[in-house]
Amino acid sequence: MGVRFKGWGTAVPDRVVTNDDLSKTLDTSDEWIRERTGIRERRIGGTAKSLGVTAGQRALAASGYGVDDIDFLVVATTTPDRITPATATLIAAEMGLTCPAMDVNAACSGFMYAVRTAYGLLETGQRRVLVIGAENLSRWVDWSDRNMAVLLADGAGATVLEYDETGNDLLSFSLGANGNWADLLTCEHEGFFQMDGKEVFRRAVRVVVDSAEQAMADADVKAEDIALVVPHQANIRIIQAATQRLGIDMERAVVVLDRYGNTSSASIPLAMDDAIANGRVKAGEYALLTGFGAGMTWASAVVRWS
Ligand code: UT7
Repeated sequence: MGVRFKGWGTAVPDRVVTNDDLSKTLDTSDEWIRERTGIRERRIGGTAKSLGVTAGQRALAASGYGVDDIDFLVVATTTPDRITPATATLIAAEMGLTCPAMDVNAACSGFMYAVRTAYGLLETGQRRVLVIGAENLSRWVDWSDRNMAVLLADGAGATVLEYDETGNDLLSFSLGANGNWADLLTCEHEGFFQMDGKEVFRRAVRVVVDSAEQAMADADVKAEDIALVVPHQANIRIIQAATQRLGIDMERAVVVLDRYGNTSSASIPLAMDDAIANGRVKAGEYALLTGFGAGMTWASAVVRWS
């Protein structure tokens, strides 16, 4: 069977918050944030629904399809507008979609979990699935807590996945979860995001490397064959450490966290959109998409652009 990516779209709020802006109210500095994370600025505003709708509409326009061509909507979000109903139903109503719609919450691995879910749906009879990663992380940030405030931001990204017998983009997946590490990064009801940053960092590098190696082995692809790495955008040092251990040149990694910070489920499609805009996605080449997040969860996939 074949599944192809048919178009991508993104949305970010207009409001730019720089490191210097944060330094005015927090005991932090542009220098510390840039050196320890790679982030220069981030976008703050909107809701999971509003950002998700715009990204979804743009992905649909890029795919050349209309709302009636979509069989299923899967929305990855850690920050749904309401506990219920699912943000996917709110987005579907606004977009004019009448297909089934549901949310997936796998934190920052959410987009890759949603792509894996879409793959399964396409394998069992659906023709086209719209996948959206949409986050309003800023709503759940304690803006007096420098540990989280410098990292998290808002945004959305989307793609259309289509069943296609003539070609296949998605060669392998390696997903995992370990709920014993749930307290390393958590947000309680009515609470704020809290994190043991050092432990998340250490484990993130390990799970990204292990799942990427598994996905590459399953696709029968070697590190030197990977032309593009599209990683979850949490910290430039995590991306550097993981690519180094994988034996993949850092030049091949897409980095947008300097402009957008950590947007959880939105970060991989935001990076993908940037790679496409910069001509870095080429037919026949292999890419590694890889994410990790609260749970802990992790997810890697090897793609060959048809
Ligand atoms: O999407 C997945 C979720 N999250 C992640 O992937 C995050 C993973 N972890 C990280 O990215 C990093 O661990 C952080 C960026 C969160 C922290 O970087 P670090 O290099 O691990 O710093 P640290 O926690 O070891 O802190 C070093 C110093 C400490 O001061 P002392 O004890 O050396 O005096 C901190 O108190 O930096 C201090 N510090 C800060 N200083 C300025 C911690 N946060 C800040 C801050 N501004 N925002």
